[in-house]
Amino acid sequence: MSDQAQKLRNMISRIQNKEEAKTIAVVSGKGGVGKSNFALNFAIKLSQQKKRVLLFDLDIGMGNIDILLGLTPKKTIVNMFEESLSIKDVIEKGPESLSYVAAGSGLTEIFNLEHTAFADFLQQLQNLMFDYDYIIFDMGAGMSVTHMNFVLASQECFVITTTEPTSIMDAYSVIKFICSRRKDIPLYLMINRATSEKDGRQAYHRLAMAVEQFLDKKVKLLGILPDDRQVVQAVQRQTPFILFNHRSNVSQSLSAIVKGYTGQSMNQKAEPFKFISRLKAVFSRKVD
Ligand SMILES: Nc1ncnc2c1ncn2[C@@H]1O[C@H](COP(=O)(O)OP(=O)(O)OP(=O)(O)O)[C@@H](O)[C@H]1O
Ligand SMILES: [Mg+2]
Repeated sequence: MSDQAQKLRNMISRIQNKEEAKTIAVVSGKGGVGKSNFALNFAIKLSQQKKRVLLFDLDIGMGNIDILLGLTPKKTIVNMFEESLSIKDVIEKGPESLSYVAAGSGLTEIFNLEHTAFADFLQQLQNLMFDYDYIIFDMGAGMSVTHMNFVLASQECFVITTTEPTSIMDAYSVIKFICSRRKDIPLYLMINRATSEKDGRQAYHRLAMAVEQFLDKKVKLLGILPDDRQVVQAVQRQTPFILFNHRSNVSQSLSAIVKGYTGQSMNQKAEPFKFISRLKAVFSRKVD
């Protein structure tokens, strides 16, 4: 069957079953730990598996997904708010049929929308939910209220950390904050830049044990990515590492992570209309 026919079939089955996209927020405590590279390559790998994926760069005003892709977007989130465009107007095509929304440049307080404009934004987002299997939000460095609202509304949250104690400590702090606002959100840990599998597992256990002991919350291990110079080279070439060299250590580990994730996530369908209603609630601060 052709790719197109397969996609059409999936879409029809999803509308019939009222299946929405799964929303995933990618966060970290410390900045520069590899969120954008992970989010982008994870999204591309899912797209390669014929999933319809929308990657949203929420590092608004300072986004870099387009830079990592080596692409120049025609429109960005900044344009969307400044020129009152619809979300569909700013969705760009990346490699492997990946859709993405670039964060744009320039500093704007975009989410200070008046009530009707925000309601319109939510409606547009709701309409998009049936067009994708996954909507992934890449958060910027430093968590703003807007970022946190998207995290709190998402179906799942991936927390990225390196194995360094400073990064682990900051990941703990962000998890503590998330749990204080929404205890039931499924949390996954992604350990990046591990020097060995053992190093990565130790970091995971250290953090997961602290979270369980002090926050009474379970955190699953999403996976471990090695520290690999191929990432640096791929960034320099403005090519996602999975496309730069699919045989590199980091690419192979990423493929295994995506395989494991899609295997287990088959049981966790999106909950219809939950994302938008949660987003509405957090932005109007009605959530405890
Ligand atoms: N697995 C890895 N191996 C080697 N280097 C890595 C790896 N992952 C990330 N890096 C390095 O870290 C840099 C920062 O990565 P990235 O931009 O994805 O971080 P980030 O968490 O999105 O940063 P920010 O907080 O600023 O948004 C990359 O440009 C690369 O040099
Ligand atoms: Mg980033």
